[in-house]
Amino acid sequence: MSFSLIIYSSTDGHTKTICERIIDSSNDKDKVKILPLREATKTDLSVFNKIIIGASIRYGRHSNELYKFIKLNKSTLDQKKSVFFSVNVVARKPEKNNPDTNPYIKKFLKISKWTPKKIGVFAGKVDYPKYGFFDKYIIKLIMFITKGPTDTSQSFEFTDWAKVDDFARELWLNS
Ligand SMILES: Cc1cc2nc3c(=O)[nH]c(=O)nc-3n(C[C@H](O)[C@H](O)[C@H](O)COP(=O)(O)O)c2cc1C
Repeated sequence: MSFSLIIYSSTDGHTKTICERIIDSSNDKDKVKILPLREATKTDLSVFNKIIIGASIRYGRHSNELYKFIKLNKSTLDQKKSVFFSVNVVARKPEKNNPDTNPYIKKFLKISKWTPKKIGVFAGKVDYPKYGFFDKYIIKLIMFITKGPTDTSQSFEFTDWAKVDDFARELWLNS
C-alpha cells in the first residue's frame, strides 16, 4: 500500500489551504497524512512512499526550520517520490510563476542542495486585515513598488486554483 505525507510550512495558513486542496484531488484521501512542519520533525518518514512539502515565503525566504528539516532528512527525501512547492506573491506575475523563473525556487534549490522529483510554485494571498501594523505597511509598500493592490482593508488571493489542481492530478497520477 502506498502512503503519502504532506508537510506544510505556513505562517498565515494559505499554504495549508493549498495542501488541503491537493489532498482533495486524491482518490485515496485516507492514505494521505497532513502535518505542520514542526510535527513532521517528530515523525518517522520512512513509512511514506511520497513526501510533499509546501512552504511559504516571508521577507524573501523560506523558514530556517524548513532548511533544517531538509538537511536532516535529505537522504530519506532522496529515496522517496519527493515533491516541493513554494507559495509567494511574486508568483502572481506571469514571468515569475514557474519553477524555472521564480526567484525563491532558484534560491531554495541552491541553498537546500535538494533536488525534489517534482517542483511547483503558486501565487499566495495578501491578507492585509490579518497582519499586524509593521507587516501590513511593509507589504503595502512592496505591493506599491510591484504594482500590486494596496487597499489594506481587503484580502487579495492570487492563487490559480486550476494550476493547483493540475499539479495535484499529475502528482497523484504518478503514485
Ligand atoms: C510579513 C510577510 C512577508 C512576506 N514576504 C514576501 C516576500 O518577500 N516575497 C513574496 O513573494 N511574498 C511575500 N509574502 C507573501 C506570502 O508569501 C503570501 O502571503 C503567502 O500566501 C503566505 O502563505 P502562508 O499563509 O502559508 O504563510 C509575505 C507575506 C507576509 C505576511
